[in-house]
Amino acid sequence: MSQRKIPVMIPMLGEEEAQAAADAVRSGWVAQGPRVARFEQEFAATVGAQHGVAVSSCTTALHLALVLQGIGAGDEVVVPSLSFIATANAVRYVGATPVFADVDLATGNLTAETIDAVRTARTRSVIAVHQGGVPFDTAALRKAADGWGIGLVEDAACAAGSTAYGQPAGAGARIAAWSFHPRKLITTGEGGMVTVDDAEWATRLRRLREHGMNVSAADRHASAQPVLEAYLETAYNYRMTDIQAAVGLVQLGRLAGLVAQRRELAARYHELLAEIDGLVPVRDPAYGQTNYQSFWVLLDGFGAARDEVLAELAAQGVSARRGIMAAHLEPAYADVTAGPLPVTERLTRDSLILPLHHALTADDQAHIVGVLRDLARR
Ligand SMILES: Cc1ncc(COP(=O)(O)O)c(C=O)c1O
Repeated sequence: MSQRKIPVMIPMLGEEEAQAAADAVRSGWVAQGPRVARFEQEFAATVGAQHGVAVSSCTTALHLALVLQGIGAGDEVVVPSLSFIATANAVRYVGATPVFADVDLATGNLTAETIDAVRTARTRSVIAVHQGGVPFDTAALRKAADGWGIGLVEDAACAAGSTAYGQPAGAGARIAAWSFHPRKLITTGEGGMVTVDDAEWATRLRRLREHGMNVSAADRHASAQPVLEAYLETAYNYRMTDIQAAVGLVQLGRLAGLVAQRRELAARYHELLAEIDGLVPVRDPAYGQTNYQSFWVLLDGFGAARDEVLAELAAQGVSARRGIMAAHLEPAYADVTAGPLPVTERLTRDSLILPLHHALTADDQAHIVGVLRDLARR
């Protein structure tokens, strides 16, 4: 057995992040405050949006997006089953019904056709995911949603640094939700963001994440005179802390470099994997570029089954993962009658995610591909 241990992902955190977090602590302001405000502005500018509203996770960002759209009991929201389960869960948080649509085999993403196939008179919105960083066709889906007169929430949890039509993936989105979980390119430990272009929506989102208050705790604190806040609606505590935002600001400065490095590593994987039959690695779609948040490989006529491949990689010190999960196959969604989802089921059954992170070396990649080559020869 190999001594080597190659993790699937390592967050890129350095001394600068530690210093920034320490500075926030020493400042005495650790709750949502000036660093969160700066992080919101800088993140929104980076992803091509007018406003950013920082929240505690992408899950809470998705929840607020649906609250903002006024989705509730009796409504249906189309989602890909092929996604982390938080995408479907957000629909249930507002009392609506998730309806699963199938995805495109190459990108893992919803298309206008797969959405249309499950759309009903009760469909109020769609949550489309930029799958593992691979952008969905933003032009096609935004146009289709507008044409049908329904909302479109863009689940950009994995997509910081991805592009579509030459712009950041979130640019031009009505509403997009982002994650800063450590499996993503940039992290704040836990954390998320909602980005919007509409100023009134941003104001409502700020209120929704902070108990429905008409004035933030930071603004109250800054005022020389006592401010009597009002609670305008029943809302949530989904705030991000200034310690997290301090880390996020440093991480944001690393984003472009991380994307470039991941794309180089992905190109090397493509070169090495091309020699092995039966493996189809994820690639850029025609209209955009992935940040390769997940480098997944579809087994297509490969000699070994997915779980056998994962087990052999693990035995050789390589921590790979199953491909993206399918919510409709989980016990939590056993009561949902989903239509046929053949592509979703194939992708979730026959794909795996290979290690990709800033510390991955050419030697590591050769080792990983070597394990796959040996398996193919068996
Ligand atoms: C597509 C997608 N949506 C939502 C989430 C939830 O993100 P968070 O962990 O920040 O709540 C994830 C997390 O992996 C995700 O991949």
